[in-house]
Amino acid sequence: ETRGFGIDKLNFYTPNQYVDLVELARARCVDPDKYLIGIGQERMAVAPVDQDIVSMGANAAEPLLDDVTRASLGLLVLGTESGIDQSKAAALFVHQLLALPEGMRVMEIKEACYGATAGLMVALDFVRSHPDRRALVIASDIARYGLDTPGEVTQGAGAVAMIVSADPTVLAIEPGTVVASRSTYDFWRPNYSTVAFAQGKYSEEVYLAMFRDAWNRASQMGLTCPEGLAAQLFHIPFSKMGRKGLRTLQGMMTDDDYGRLANRFEDSIRYGRQVGNIYTGSLYLGLISLLENDSSLRPGDRMGLFSYGSGSEAELFFGKLCSGFQSELNSAGHRAMLEGRTKLCVEEYERVFNAGLVQDGSRQVLERSDFDAPHYLTGLDRHQRL
Ligand code: CAA
Repeated sequence: ETRGFGIDKLNFYTPNQYVDLVELARARCVDPDKYLIGIGQERMAVAPVDQDIVSMGANAAEPLLDDVTRASLGLLVLGTESGIDQSKAAALFVHQLLALPEGMRVMEIKEACYGATAGLMVALDFVRSHPDRRALVIASDIARYGLDTPGEVTQGAGAVAMIVSADPTVLAIEPGTVVASRSTYDFWRPNYSTVAFAQGKYSEEVYLAMFRDAWNRASQMGLTCPEGLAAQLFHIPFSKMGRKGLRTLQGMMTDDDYGRLANRFEDSIRYGRQVGNIYTGSLYLGLISLLENDSSLRPGDRMGLFSYGSGSEAELFFGKLCSGFQSELNSAGHRAMLEGRTKLCVEEYERVFNAGLVQDGSRQVLERSDFDAPHYLTGLDRHQRL
């Protein structure tokens, strides 16, 4: 009997340097509690020039791949909104770095933070029609709003990689989902800009409205059943946003049911509070955080996942933990990665933020920043990335 289709393995990578948000608050003449409580973030990952979405994505995926998994892959989808090329898919660079088979489909998907969920849904369809093959879905992003902007404190960098298969080990995803598409200008980045634009408060309103609508529709379809829901995960641009989503559920279920979701929510934001917004990967970083920080979850526990991409696309879907999911976690490794990072002072962070790749395609050689990460950008030459 098949356990269905879903996430078989998953992992994340974040660069090895961060800025402490209390120090950032002081430098911006803001009360630190605004960042710690009002926004709900403690540290923010800072991507050095040699860790871009390609190398971060490959670094997240590398530990998931053995020879059998590599040979079984039929699809690689990389979701990102920090694209490095208007034409060539970032996924093709990753495909080469990971030495994946040539006979597979490789592509990049864009729809803001929803891109990885789009990839996951495509991957699920793929493994349903090719149950003997696997798919690799990667979410990789660098969130940039600019120095001294309201969005600055909600930046971050990192990647999540997931192997999707039949008979998964971690999370079997149910076919019934609720999806919604609505064109909005809540958050966007035109081609000429290296930083995102946001109508911040409006973006929060659209996120919450689309979550409420999705929840109501899922309830009408009998998908939510709070008494059977062990956790509700959110896209987490910053932890307060997910908390606002969670709070819309208060009063829609018993206090016991809400209390359980509220407790589990705290475990789902532990990693994100240290990393910041990783756009496409944020929902899945929340999943890893929950699984690695909550020892009370059991196989068969069911959870909701709310994916939101500005612009806007939303999807609420559900999954059940599979037997043996604990064996696929890497709590010690992930904690060591977060604790082993170097703290940058605000001046150093600003220097890294302003450093970038040459814009004329001329030769550039980069210094390696993270010797624990197998993949990194070594430089540029003749408009080509090395
Ligand atoms: N102590 C505690 N809390 C404090 C405080 C203090 N001293 N001072 C202020 N706060 C609280 C405020 O009350 C407010 O709380 P609520 O949101 O609960 O009302 C919170 O801190 C934020 O303060 P402001 O209302 O002054 O808002 P801001 O001007 O700092 O902007 C923001 C906040 C809109 C989130 C901004 O950071 C932003 O534009 N971020 C980028 C856009 C974004 O992430 N939007 C999320 C939805 S879109 C999405 O999810 C996709 C995506 O990934 C981008």
